[in-house]
Amino acid sequence: MANKTVCVVGLGYIGLPTAALLATNGYQVVGVDLNVHAVDTINKGQIHIVEPDLDAYVRSSVAAGKLKAYTKPEQADIYMICVPTPFHEGGDIPQPNIDYVLAATRSIAHLVTPGDLVILESTSPVGTTRRMGEVLQEAGVDLSTVHLAYCPERVLPGKIMIELVENDRVVGGLTPDATKLASNFYRTFVRGEVLETDAPTAEMCKLTENSYRDVNIAFANELSLLCAKSGINVWRLIELANRHPRVNILQPGTGVGGHCIAVDPWFIVASDPINARVIRIAREVNNCKTEWVIDQIKIAVADASAKTGRKSRVACLGLSFKPDIDDLRESPALHVVKTLQAQGYDVMAVEPNIESHDLLALTSLEQAIADADVVAVLVKHRRFVELVKSGGLRKEGVLDFCGVSG
Ligand SMILES: NC(=O)c1ccc[n+]([C@@H]2O[C@H](COP(=O)([O-])OP(=O)(O)OC[C@H]3O[C@@H](n4cnc5c(N)ncnc54)[C@H](O)[C@@H]3O)[C@@H](O)[C@H]2O)c1
Repeated sequence: MANKTVCVVGLGYIGLPTAALLATNGYQVVGVDLNVHAVDTINKGQIHIVEPDLDAYVRSSVAAGKLKAYTKPEQADIYMICVPTPFHEGGDIPQPNIDYVLAATRSIAHLVTPGDLVILESTSPVGTTRRMGEVLQEAGVDLSTVHLAYCPERVLPGKIMIELVENDRVVGGLTPDATKLASNFYRTFVRGEVLETDAPTAEMCKLTENSYRDVNIAFANELSLLCAKSGINVWRLIELANRHPRVNILQPGTGVGGHCIAVDPWFIVASDPINARVIRIAREVNNCKTEWVIDQIKIAVADASAKTGRKSRVACLGLSFKPDIDDLRESPALHVVKTLQAQGYDVMAVEPNIESHDLLALTSLEQAIADADVVAVLVKHRRFVELVKSGGLRKEGVLDFCGVSG
């Protein structure tokens, strides 16, 4: 199969690592992105996103003539769609936006020929692969001659080049032949197990995985509110409960962020709001947790001001959506800081994993702790944990929303 050509549409965090991995596995790869800067950078053998080891893969694939990037799709045997799937903002229930997927499908329709394999990797609502088939058909493609399949991506940013190879994959075609063809393709470069199913099950599988985590985190966040009222240390409580052989509660925090877990459960809720009750409430609990954190900080600031008789300063430690990364997308910590600032609070933002921010002035950790009346730890960065361990952040008077003190 490795003598086949592959056209990867969308060269972001998923598409570019996949394209480079395929190229180093012998495939001739055409990478496509609308972003001209990304295309130019890749064709120089460089990368426009941050991901460990990706640069070496891209450099060697481009140098070997196995990977070339374009702004428009080129003819291939296999097409892979790796474009964004956000939701439409506003409304009671955010609705999935599959416009990018459909536009990408339209862009390859004139190139698809009998026997070709078209794979969707973007996290998508159930029915999207079938909808892609309709789009191809509307463009004149005879669907009985083309194989369509869905294969969700499960990689963890920071470990993408390893997990692309090691993770188990779920592959579901619109037909059994498409499932077989797509599975055999993945088996040429994946060392994990490739599990076969149909397209709707594969689509629902990815949404289920992220909703499972969201619901479990919501449970932990709900416990954190209950424990705060009762004066119980929720992290110790969870540690003890998890010693039960069949209990595995995740960790509470400032909320849930990022572009996956905070987004994908809405795809299920939007499709069946009557029945998706737990999943919807979990989303709401996790969003409300962030508002609760804001309220707790405000109460602490008011108490501090009452004691000192002047306006209090608050240090917010951490802005990213999870520990030890520089990604601020959908970050609850960032929401906390922006909300407090918009309401006139004197906030110092600390984020050791980024150098600067477009809208916020950053303060060094040492300066913030020295100047603050109230310290709120929003993200469990390693640096903050070490600070607590070394006694640089006294436990009393610190609002610990992420278990940094254990
Ligand atoms: N990033 C992750 O960790 C991760 C993990 C699992 C699943 N996913 C899913 O994978 C999909 C892609 O995510 P990502 O993080 O790679 O997104 P991304 O924003 O990093 O990259 C998407 C790329 O697609 C390009 N694009 C958009 N429309 C296009 C079109 N019509 N033609 C060509 N290029 C087009 C954009 O310019 C962009 O470079 C999403 O559905 C996401 O939910 C992402």
